[in-house]
Amino acid sequence: MTGYDVEALRARFPALVASEPHEAALDNAATTHRPQAVLDAMTRFAERDNANVHRATHRRARAATEAFEGARQRVARFLGAQAGEVVFTRNATEAVNLVARGWLEPRIGLGDRIVVTALEHHSNLVPWMEVCRRTGATLTVAPVSDDGLLESFELPANTAFVATTRVSNAVGTIVDTAAIADAAHARGVPVLIDATQAVAHLPVDNSLQASDFLVTSAHKSFGPTGLGVLVGRAELLAEMEPVTFGGEMVARVSWEEGPSWADVPHRFEAGTPPITQAIGFVPALDLIEELGAANIRAHEIALLERLLAGLAAIEGVRVIGPPDAASRSGAVSIDVLDGDPHVAAMVLDMSGIAVRAGFHCAEPLLERLLGGPTVRASIAAYTSEREIDALLAALPEAAEAARLAGKPA
Ligand code: ALA
Repeated sequence: MTGYDVEALRARFPALVASEPHEAALDNAATTHRPQAVLDAMTRFAERDNANVHRATHRRARAATEAFEGARQRVARFLGAQAGEVVFTRNATEAVNLVARGWLEPRIGLGDRIVVTALEHHSNLVPWMEVCRRTGATLTVAPVSDDGLLESFELPANTAFVATTRVSNAVGTIVDTAAIADAAHARGVPVLIDATQAVAHLPVDNSLQASDFLVTSAHKSFGPTGLGVLVGRAELLAEMEPVTFGGEMVARVSWEEGPSWADVPHRFEAGTPPITQAIGFVPALDLIEELGAANIRAHEIALLERLLAGLAAIEGVRVIGPPDAASRSGAVSIDVLDGDPHVAAMVLDMSGIAVRAGFHCAEPLLERLLGGPTVRASIAAYTSEREIDALLAALPEAAEAARLAGKPA
């Protein structure tokens, strides 16, 4: 890889520029930082064009509508979809719930199955559990190996839907979602892919574009919080029922006939949509394209190799999840042997190192792999070798403090 200048990239992120020299931002799977260009786009909109969309016809309202619909087109282009296939939601979780309640629930019943992987975090798991509870359908879970790799993926009889993540937020496993989609499509079964941990880390290729529904969120890809994206195949969105009702999603409302729905995708965007956030997401996607997904991936693989090798040399810790960089993406879960990961995270924080401790909203997965919580270090395109080294240097003391505290009850 040539020309990947991580320091120049970091200079474009105010939160990184404002960091102390010893600090390390290693909680990127929870949320990434935002570049100045994203902040500028949102401020510019607020200062210059602030108005609601699809309502009034004055100058600012026209500019706001144009910018918002332009953002939809930008997201569509980035993800290889048509603008009419992109629905803006509050977050990725809301996008999953929209598909679960609006598309799947009316089509599924007793005896049907929804297949998920054991790698799912709660956002791509609990909505399907809820559909099962409401309809009598059954959830089938594709198992993982002790290394956190998908062990097998089979579709039982009566499979009606498949939901899978592309990348595990908790242990970093990359899932071959293209193969899963192929297997499902051979049986005429639609597939939802959770791309939330993939968009800022891996190329947008057939692994995502093979989906019938795809969900992601802006804030895990250098964009603002408060914006989720659902991409759905046009014919499936045309069948989907809205699940949130009110203004903006209607074509007409009368006392006599009640409401009729606006066209797709607006019928799924009741109320004022996340206008500022959608506009702010555009420069984030521009940045990912400017860097190049393959270059980001190469940079992250080098960091992961450094981190995995360093962790292997530290006593009292163990990596949970795939042992090799090629099978994983940015999240590395660390078991602090015989110790409390929350204590380790607290000690790391005292050294300026931001990580997350806990079950990472993926409790069934960590119960399966470890039976408890971990410390998770997660990297992004702007992560530097210095940050990896800072973690590795601080970890022995943090692990020792965790061991003295003992395993959490
Ligand atoms: N999914 C988010 C995380 O991994 C909340 O931290």
